[in-house]
Amino acid sequence: MKVSIIGGGGLVGSSAGFALQCGGVVREIALLDVNEKLAEGQALDMLHGGPSTADQIISSGGYEHIADSDVICITAGLRRKPDESRLDLINRNTDLFMSVLDGVAGGNPRSDAIVFVVSNPVDILTYLAADRLELPLSQVIGLGTQLDTIRFRGLIAQQLGAAPTQVSAMILGEHGDSMVPIWSSATLASLPLDKHPHWTQNTANELFKRTKGSGAEVISKKGGAGFAVGIAIRDVIESIALDQRRLLPVSSVQSGCYGIRDVALSVPTVVGQGGVVDRVEVELWPKEMQGLRNSGQVLRQTLNGVLDRVGRA
Ligand code: 2OP
Repeated sequence: MKVSIIGGGGLVGSSAGFALQCGGVVREIALLDVNEKLAEGQALDMLHGGPSTADQIISSGGYEHIADSDVICITAGLRRKPDESRLDLINRNTDLFMSVLDGVAGGNPRSDAIVFVVSNPVDILTYLAADRLELPLSQVIGLGTQLDTIRFRGLIAQQLGAAPTQVSAMILGEHGDSMVPIWSSATLASLPLDKHPHWTQNTANELFKRTKGSGAEVISKKGGAGFAVGIAIRDVIESIALDQRRLLPVSSVQSGCYGIRDVALSVPTVVGQGGVVDRVEVELWPKEMQGLRNSGQVLRQTLNGVLDRVGRA
């Protein structure tokens, strides 16, 4: 499988490339960036590590890589400031993103290619990609709340002194301020988290608050996320590459799951070779359902403004 990463010279894109290299699953990783020299440098640095990781083709370049790519991952975009919301980015990033979409379309993507959006605000830009590119909706996916979910799991594990891989807790909805913690199905080694001897409601509230603020926290400390977002991207791309059909909280244009339509946000999604294979509408607590619907309304409101400005395809 060939993956092209647009914005591959930057922190997010190069971290995704490195995560895919360490994963050893995909056959070719191409780093595309407006800063060609930076993309070349990232690719060269990765290539040097090849003999000790996997037999892959590591390259850099331009939109000529689109035509034979199985997955086109878009990470290009400006990063927000610590006090900015991801939705605040919308005006600055939309025009840049539209030019990237023009480049992708001009690169003649295969009819079965998957477009995987990471740039923020990811839910809005996922919708725009689905609207603009002539691909089936199932082939346009956004990273959504997969990054928030692994952050959430990591922080819970740290709080409880538990094995991170044994903590299961999902974040759904907007990759942004209206994201929703799904406590109703949170477990540690299949045991209900809210029955853990060290669990309190205050613990739960604090952990979710820190998860929601993790993007800004990382930006304030090191300028922006790299390692975890790269791993979250790898999780999704390898589920596509291996047709794993993992149930992941990724963003896509909804057509009725949880009663939500015509907006992109994260619901439990089966991710496989064709992109969105299915969605699983697991029963949620009423307040979780309300949170999810609120996410849809917040995103729909922003989307209406963007579509008024850029128009529909
Ligand atoms: C984050 O939350 C980049 O939106 C991403 O760090």
